[in-house]
Amino acid sequence: MNNPFTLAFGQQPAQFISRISQTEEIIETFTDERPSSQVYMITGIRGSGKTVMMTSIANELEQDKEWITVELNPTRDLLIGLASKLYCIKPLHTLFTNAKLDFSAFGLGVSLENSVPITDEETMIESMLKEIAKSGKRLLVTMDEVTNNEYVKVFASTFQILLRKDLPIYLLMTGLYENIYSLQNDEALTFLYRAPKIMLEPLSENAIASNYKSIFKVSVEESMKMAKLTKGYPFAFQVLGYLCWKYKDKELNEVIPEYDHYLEEYVYEKIWSELSDQDRRVVAELSSQKEIKVKELRDKLNMNSSEMSVYRNRLGKRGIVDISKYGYISLKLPRFDYYVKMCVMDME
Ligand SMILES: Nc1ncnc2c1ncn2[C@@H]1O[C@H](COP(=O)(O)OP(=O)(O)OP(=O)(O)O)[C@@H](O)[C@H]1O
Ligand SMILES: [Mg+2]
Repeated sequence: MNNPFTLAFGQQPAQFISRISQTEEIIETFTDERPSSQVYMITGIRGSGKTVMMTSIANELEQDKEWITVELNPTRDLLIGLASKLYCIKPLHTLFTNAKLDFSAFGLGVSLENSVPITDEETMIESMLKEIAKSGKRLLVTMDEVTNNEYVKVFASTFQILLRKDLPIYLLMTGLYENIYSLQNDEALTFLYRAPKIMLEPLSENAIASNYKSIFKVSVEESMKMAKLTKGYPFAFQVLGYLCWKYKDKELNEVIPEYDHYLEEYVYEKIWSELSDQDRRVVAELSSQKEIKVKELRDKLNMNSSEMSVYRNRLGKRGIVDISKYGYISLKLPRFDYYVKMCVMDME
């Protein structure tokens, strides 16, 4: 049998631990008769499962005939991208043709007799959506890894107008906290500020343990020990499973060096490289203890309490530290303390 675990990012893994409540929250909101929101943003650290969650929601909605789903690439022109994709969907194509919509100015189809060609992108999308609405369907647009770029800004402001016109367009985006943050704080896009955000937290260690237990036929204690080693971090769950499968005869301790190696190469190097010097100082201090009192950390780093709260909040929102225990702070990712210690040693 092939290894049931995967090291690939962005694909539905065979061993999948569902995030029932958050997934249901989005699906229920979007499928509601009168949705309270037509946009959701999924954020979380690298490897926390944003792409997987976005895809599984799109797949689920796609099962429903009422929904059309389209994935757009946020590094390209999104209005044109959306129009061309919609134009290529067969049943929609028929709708547009019957409605005598002329998009020839954009290279979509040929010019039609007796109809005025549409020459504005926003108008094009709007007229397409009106037909979609008439046919009783809803459109879900997904966008993975958004950043605050011009394309995304233009798309978001058009989206805002379409919402005002009560058109059935829904938007599901994923992004790193800092990118989502910068987008929603853009003055032109204030509606995103109120848009609901889902922050991906670790998977349940119990669910992970029970998965390992059934795959590896190990004791409850052993499966719990393995789950603890992942701290619920989705990528780590796959890596540890992958290695334990590959080296069936080895003890857990023996696979740890390779486990560290994958975590480092696939995510930790990137995360570390994106931290500012001050963030690194905080993280380095945290790597020496399992958890630390915020007050003690502040004293060690010589920071006042408002400075500290900036770092604490930001690192918390990015998914690097755990601040859920009042007055305490600790590193959230598995074996990240070990990785950070190595980095600090290299710098000295
Ligand atoms: N619910 C889940 N259950 C089990 N494994 C998961 C789950 N979600 C994600 N994973 C695994 O975690 C890894 C990362 O998932 P994904 O690619 O969705 O992360 P991401 O947040 O999009 O990361 P990035 O920011 O780098 O794009 C993959 O190996 C995937 O198989
Ligand atoms: Mg991703």
